[in-house]
Amino acid sequence: MSKDTILVAEDLSKHYSIPLGAFKEPATLKALNSTSFTLSRRKTLAVVGESGCGKTTLAQLVAMINQPTLGSLKIAEQEIVGADKTALKALRSRVQIVFQNPYGSLNPRQKIGAALMEPLRMNTKLGKAECRKRAYAMLDQVGLRPEHFDRYPHMFSGGQRQRIAIARALMLEPEILVLDEPVSALDVSIQAQVLNLLAELQDKHDLAYLFITHDLSVVKHTADEVMVMYLGKAVEHRPAKDLFDSPQHPYTRALLSATPIPVPGAKKERVHLEGEIPSPIDPPAGCYFHPRCPLCFESCRSEVPLPQPCGDGMVACHAITQPEKLSDTA
Ligand SMILES: Nc1ncnc2c1ncn2[C@@H]1O[C@H](COP(=O)(O)OP(=O)(O)O)[C@@H](O)[C@H]1O
Ligand SMILES: [Mg+2]
Repeated sequence: MSKDTILVAEDLSKHYSIPLGAFKEPATLKALNSTSFTLSRRKTLAVVGESGCGKTTLAQLVAMINQPTLGSLKIAEQEIVGADKTALKALRSRVQIVFQNPYGSLNPRQKIGAALMEPLRMNTKLGKAECRKRAYAMLDQVGLRPEHFDRYPHMFSGGQRQRIAIARALMLEPEILVLDEPVSALDVSIQAQVLNLLAELQDKHDLAYLFITHDLSVVKHTADEVMVMYLGKAVEHRPAKDLFDSPQHPYTRALLSATPIPVPGAKKERVHLEGEIPSPIDPPAGCYFHPRCPLCFESCRSEVPLPQPCGDGMVACHAITQPEKLSDTA
């Protein structure tokens, strides 16, 4: 393990119990199903997939808002599963989260300055003057002005509010920032500004980002690694360049082909996804993706594909790892 590794997740799972009525056993919904990955300082791991694939569930586990059902999550070499309250409190300040909706994440009755000082007041013994100083400094770092300190959230645009949410998340000097669709609610023109700000802050503070998005184009220029998820499972996880240049999993290819590319006239492979996303309460046998997969063959209907090495990453797909069987396609 590299000394820059700041987080290790192993077989991380989150199951929800879904009531099915008075006379039935509740069903188990595997929102996150045995996912393993690491995060490194100064690096961005992008987590990508359609709505419902478990991205927010993963974000909540990493941000320690929720406890995993199974698996292990180590932050700075400390296991958080089963850790006591004191240990969790100490670890919590090292991981902060920014949500998609910048309107919901700020208290409308609290001035911005007070919102920025709050994490310091709650978690440190710093004096008031020092807290104010740090809040003003953070406003400046996220591109806001000193006079914004005494304003209320409704006086800001969506992009500015997201800057404030990012500033608040950084007040305790975390090492990991979980970004759950941080620009999805913003206009495209504003998205680029917030993405640039995030890149600047990552450099300045050596932050590790877990960057969650349903839109691959958002992370094309900023991700170091991309993990593609389908129904709670990682199906491909590779260095970003490799994944964008030569996507392997048929699901990754389909996602990429649905992503607009900015070069006019550029040709690209079109892969259409057929059918609906199956329910995670009753996932298909074998490979979860097989009912929608253009490459599906016999093994895919019965055997779960395990992650296999692929260059510097992994892919979980029978068609990629057993290409000789592709001719069996029924
Ligand atoms: N608290 C919960 N109780 C029951 N099911 C949940 C809960 N949170 C999420 N889920 C289910 O878990 C799956 C993954 O959800 P989520 O992590 O929000 O996906 P994403 O963020 O990728 O859209 C979905 O099927 C969702 O309905
Ligand atoms: Mg989500």
